[in-house]
Amino acid sequence: MLSNIVLIAALLAGVDARFGKEGAAQQGIQDLGNQFGSPGAAATLAGQSPGVLLAGANACAKLVLADKIVTELGTDPKVIAVAAALVAAEKNFNPFAVSIPSICSDASLPATAALRGIVPLIDPAVTGSDVENANSAKSLIKPFSANGLSVADVMAANGFTNFTLQAADGTAGGAAKAGNANAGKGAAATTAAATTAAAATTAAAVATSAVASCVPVTLTTTVKAAASTAAATSAAAAATSAAAAVGGNKGSAVAAGVDFGLCVPTIKFEAGLNGRKATEFTFQAIDPLVNKGQQEALNPNIITNRICDQLGNVCKANQAAKDACLAAKAQILALGTRDKTTADAWNTALGFPGTNTNPDNAPQAGLVGHS
Ligand SMILES: *[C@@H]1O[C@H](CO)[C@@H](O)[C@H](O)[C@H]1NC(C)=O
Repeated sequence: MLSNIVLIAALLAGVDARFGKEGAAQQGIQDLGNQFGSPGAAATLAGQSPGVLLAGANACAKLVLADKIVTELGTDPKVIAVAAALVAAEKNFNPFAVSIPSICSDASLPATAALRGIVPLIDPAVTGSDVENANSAKSLIKPFSANGLSVADVMAANGFTNFTLQAADGTAGGAAKAGNANAGKGAAATTAAATTAAAATTAAAVATSAVASCVPVTLTTTVKAAASTAAATSAAAAATSAAAAVGGNKGSAVAAGVDFGLCVPTIKFEAGLNGRKATEFTFQAIDPLVNKGQQEALNPNIITNRICDQLGNVCKANQAAKDACLAAKAQILALGTRDKTTADAWNTALGFPGTNTNPDNAPQAGLVGHS
């Protein structure tokens, strides 16, 4: 009997802790009602906040709500602070069903400029949470660079990748192709090696079972953390062998067994591409077979993603080449730079050091990266 009471008390304490988190977000929004927005607007938004933090909610829903808070209550610093806290808030997840959180892969969210670059807290039980939770606190003071990047991309770029991707429509964000020139999905698809095939499969399963309702759903899938780890390990190995092979001739294979087929997977960084200004530099694949149908982009991750897709789709590259490409893609994402050194790093990683990143002799004035 006593043990039952202890157990029930413990369960209630757990419930309190869970609702405490949501209650704080809700109260913060509610309090804005005295000063901002039309009568009742803050109360309505506050009422919607617990739902977006539940385990069953879509990972993008709280970002949509944060935008809505700003749209309806205005851009006063007090409103922004409350919306920012919601972006940074930890979303619940069911540790009995999944071992890692799902994170929004939609690069258009949040749309509010002042809310971009803020990353969320995650459950302290997740490996790597110490890095992420420190990043989250930092991001509320000084947001990370987030141009063209989803929250998931920003997290990965700053050292935390132990999550699955989820798009706003509930589908697995990791499966998006860059070929549709959609910056958001292209960038989402670049999230590091640990969230490749295995994680995408998991994300699809999670997305399928996670209905965006206010009721927590029981997730029927278990994340194969081991598979993610294996993917990361093989990507790291490919990166190592790619680095070891640097110094080969232009056009040479990056490592024994690597064959890029019909394509040379190099990148240029040029001004004035596609009618842009002579001072505006963007990235593009050099090989016309690779860049066919893909616009140049300010975000190098869109181009690296496209190249890796093309290797499989049109270049007839072998698996070793595709693996090397994915490893290089993760490397560029982690670098987070957007300038000539980014293109050089990519070309070097794939075995083409010293590639001319301005093959069209575009003007070099103001050669600076765009953030
Ligand atoms: C991700 O976190 C889970 C839960 O803590 C852990 O089991 C797993 O090893 C972690 N994966 C990586 C790649 O760190």
